[in-house]
Amino acid sequence: MGGMTSLRLYHGTGPGPITPDGCAVDYYATLTAGGEPELIHAAVPPGAGVLELGAGAGRITRPLLALGHQVVAVDESPEMLAHITGAETVCSPIQTLALPRTFDLVLLMSFVIETADDDLRAAFLRTCRRHVAADGCVILQRKPPEWYDTVQPFERATGDGRTVRMTGISRPGPGLLEATMEYTVGERRWTHTFVSRRLDDDRLERELDQAGLAISRFLDDDREWVRAVPR
Ligand SMILES: C[S@@+](CC[C@H](N)C(=O)[O-])C[C@H]1O[C@@H](n2cnc3c(N)ncnc32)[C@H](O)[C@@H]1O
Repeated sequence: MGGMTSLRLYHGTGPGPITPDGCAVDYYATLTAGGEPELIHAAVPPGAGVLELGAGAGRITRPLLALGHQVVAVDESPEMLAHITGAETVCSPIQTLALPRTFDLVLLMSFVIETADDDLRAAFLRTCRRHVAADGCVILQRKPPEWYDTVQPFERATGDGRTVRMTGISRPGPGLLEATMEYTVGERRWTHTFVSRRLDDDRLERELDQAGLAISRFLDDDREWVRAVPR
């Protein structure tokens, strides 16, 4: 982080437990997947074993299980993991995870890779490399770099008593973006403030390379979903 050490990287408010990275457990427990599991499923062999890093309350775990994958779900929040059934769960920080086995797929989605803590991100990628089988792959989800340049505050009502707002967008340093997400479900309201690092293709490629990984392809036209393999 260099000169950014005084910047608070994550902060969450609202009812129920909040994870160290500011996510509201009770909010994530209400969410369902929106096509991500099918995208992931199509990029790996049928029945591929999955290590899901930052699994949260199992929004993606559940459909991956239903698609025939065995999943080991990792999160540092026991309250998040308590919502997961049908998968092995491991309560651990991603950066120190050292399981005695490898997986066909290591999944690190939900923009967790975009932490503004550069050392932490390097450790996340080393964890991916440690746990991916020689013929396996790593799938990462990052916001496309263009998103960082163009994102505007917004408010979206979903019609079922939910709203999502993005406010307070600022750029506290080169390649960094700070913003607050506000989520309401009925009477409940949560906020999640975070600082993210813009990861363009060159930077991502360099950081993957340092971890012993190489991009094999993007899974979508926006280049949000990145498939990488061991070098
Ligand atoms: C934004 S939520 C996404 C959860 C889930 N992937 C989804 O899409 O619904 C991020 C999750 O990653 C977990 N997480 C973030 N940083 C972590 C770390 N360093 N070690 C372990 N878990 C972490 C949080 O506890 C949280 O449950």
